[in-house]
Amino acid sequence: MSIPKEKIDEVRERANIVQVISEYLPLTKRGQNHLGLCPFHSEKTPSFTVSETKGIYYCFGCNATGNVITFLMKRDGMSFPDAVRSLAKRYGITIPEVQRSGPDPRDLIYQALRASMEYFLRELKGPGGDEAREYIKRRGFEGEIAQRFNLGYAPDLWDGLSGFLRKKGIADASALSSGVVIKKEKGFYDRFRGRVIFPITDVRGRIVGFGGRSINGKDPKYLNSPESQVFKKGETLYGFYQAKQQMASAGAIFVEGYFDLLALHKHGFTNAVATMGTALTKEHLRLVKAYTNTVYALFDSDAAGRNASIRALDIAIDEEMDLRAVTLKGGKDPDEFLVKFGAEAMKEAIAKAEPLMEFFLKDLCGRLDLKTPAGKRKYLDSVVPMLSRIRNVAERGHYAAYVATVLNIPQESVYEALKIPRGTAEKSGRGTTDAVDPKGARLSELTVLKVMARHPELFSESVSVALESFSDPVLKKAGSIIAGSISQAKPLDAASLMDEADDEPTRTLIAGLLIKDDDGFIEDPARMLEDSLKRVMNKGNIKETTRRMIERLEEMGRTEVASDIRKRMSTGAKRRS
Ligand code: CTP
Ligand code: MN
Repeated sequence: MSIPKEKIDEVRERANIVQVISEYLPLTKRGQNHLGLCPFHSEKTPSFTVSETKGIYYCFGCNATGNVITFLMKRDGMSFPDAVRSLAKRYGITIPEVQRSGPDPRDLIYQALRASMEYFLRELKGPGGDEAREYIKRRGFEGEIAQRFNLGYAPDLWDGLSGFLRKKGIADASALSSGVVIKKEKGFYDRFRGRVIFPITDVRGRIVGFGGRSINGKDPKYLNSPESQVFKKGETLYGFYQAKQQMASAGAIFVEGYFDLLALHKHGFTNAVATMGTALTKEHLRLVKAYTNTVYALFDSDAAGRNASIRALDIAIDEEMDLRAVTLKGGKDPDEFLVKFGAEAMKEAIAKAEPLMEFFLKDLCGRLDLKTPAGKRKYLDSVVPMLSRIRNVAERGHYAAYVATVLNIPQESVYEALKIPRGTAEKSGRGTTDAVDPKGARLSELTVLKVMARHPELFSESVSVALESFSDPVLKKAGSIIAGSISQAKPLDAASLMDEADDEPTRTLIAGLLIKDDDGFIEDPARMLEDSLKRVMNKGNIKETTRRMIERLEEMGRTEVASDIRKRMSTGAKRRS
């Protein structure tokens, strides 16, 4: 399945990014770049910039960024290899096919699933579908919405679908691996019986499984396809295919149930997706992250819902997503809420959504006695592991101030607590040093990268050592990617560097550094670099790290570099004149 690296490079070089993107949105030439309305957020003034020479796009509005391959991935929901292959085909580049014995077994599963959907649709329309149609109507989803989501019906038979599939020429083995039939001693029987069927699709709209709601009172109320080669519940969001375009401008709404999702779409909230009853996962968030950073989670207002929301927060922090909790008054699930109170009330509830971190900090206040030292200790112990993982200094400061207020302790005490990494903070290996000195560190580090991006010739071993001691993890990662390219004497090519960064923040940073250089003239880059390096080396905890590094360099016999760095440290950040 894997495509040789040279081929990927060739595709990236040959594919014309302006040509490809122009097919999705009109672009106008503006100076060296092309400009258009960003397809990833809603805007009236164009800030979506495409650089033909650099082979990347960058949106000054929402920071979306990438190369021609990631554009197709985001826009069309393609996988990386699929995007590369489709571009290769278009630009006449042949990619050697890996020898497989016979067809991909997954294709056979997709076929079985498609045929099954045909059966479920036919059965809903047919004479035996009265009861199911009646049920769907009673719940308010007949007509257009049922069609949009291809609702179907599995009659209460043992061999309805298995017989249908056999007639269609689908092999028993494929039917079995697709999960729609179950094997017994002799022969097979249908998994779904007497149920309204919800076909579940992947990001490209292919059927990967089904959910079934019992309509005759038989247990269980819901039955889902088992996990298969094409269906992983924790990586799939019901309704994602129908919702993804809308998400780019409106954020994503997360609900749990199938009918909750239908209800939201029916009432115009076409940016909703459903987790199908499972707990939120990192993969769920990553799916929507290609479209938006904002997630509104509609959790139940009971204890289970509250715990689910705290687990969700845990995941969202590391994904750096803005996760907000929507509380629905009246203890109803979203479907019941909409039936009872309507779309306007839902709109209000969503508008009032608060960041999950705030929700968590407030909720905890109500559960501990914060007048007692023991209560304060427990509070701080619970929030520190969460707060210390927030990477953005401003955001972390905001919540630290809140904690100080509710505990009625000085802010310094909260920072003191954040300085000592513990629990998850320690495990995740993320430094918290910039909590101590949030202001200067990031700026000096950013300046080092800016100069490097524009003047790669100034890169030296001292710079490389300084990069090691960066306190901002994103800047550090971007720095090491850029340094890697410079030290291999490769020209700094934004498009290919972008594929080396595996996360959005790093990609955004690299794009920002490389694409904005059109207007980024630096008068005395050597001096600017030297000043920033000094500041980086002299930062609080980092100073210690640097000392240790100097010792290591000396042990390795790299005395020249070591003494160069030592010189920078002792002179401090004083300006030459
Ligand atoms: N679910 C499931 N298996 C179950 C129960 C629930 O997969 N045995 C999933 C389904 O996706 C369901 C969601 O969890 O839609 C929420 O479950 P629940 O709140 O029990 O049902 P509702 O969606 O409210 O169903 P209904 O309104 O039809 O009663
Ligand atoms: Mn319900």
